Amino acid sequence: MKVKILMVCLGNICRSPIAEGLLKSKLNNNNFFIDSAGTGSWHVGNKPDLRSITVSKTHHIDISNQKARQFTYEDYINFDHIYVMDQSNKKNVLSLAKTPEDRNKVQLILNELIPNSNLEVPDPYYDEDQGFENVFQMLDKACNSIVYRFLNF
Ligand code: 4NP
Repeated sequence: MKVKILMVCLGNICRSPIAEGLLKSKLNNNNFFIDSAGTGSWHVGNKPDLRSITVSKTHHIDISNQKARQFTYEDYINFDHIYVMDQSNKKNVLSLAKTPEDRNKVQLILNELIPNSNLEVPDPYYDEDQGFENVFQMLDKACNSIVYRFLNF
């Protein structure tokens, strides 16, 4: 049985595509299924933002083939763990939950790095390139913690 992990942000074009690409690069085996989605629908079908593609490429991760999609209730059925970037994503994702099991799947991704900190990955959409590098670095560390947890080093 694969462990199924979903990364969620607002547009599914900036933060969660980087998180998906990073985690795939670190958990590159058949025991995991990793995907991403956005709570909003504006960018459905689009490639990641060019700045997310570029920062990932700089770190040798290719996310250019990803396509944005919207989070739906089906994701609660299909995924074991749902990592959100900020409190607004969390609220939107939880608004579709039907059971306590659904709700237990949802976590702020930076709580994997610093438990109970409730820190957020800032939305870099209106930032300069440095904002995307900062997001990449935060998500890199958070994904290392996720890998540590699931591979039980
Ligand atoms: P993301 O960033 O949630 O990290 O993909 C955003 C992308 C687009 C918009 C907002 C946030 N937007 O308003 O279009």
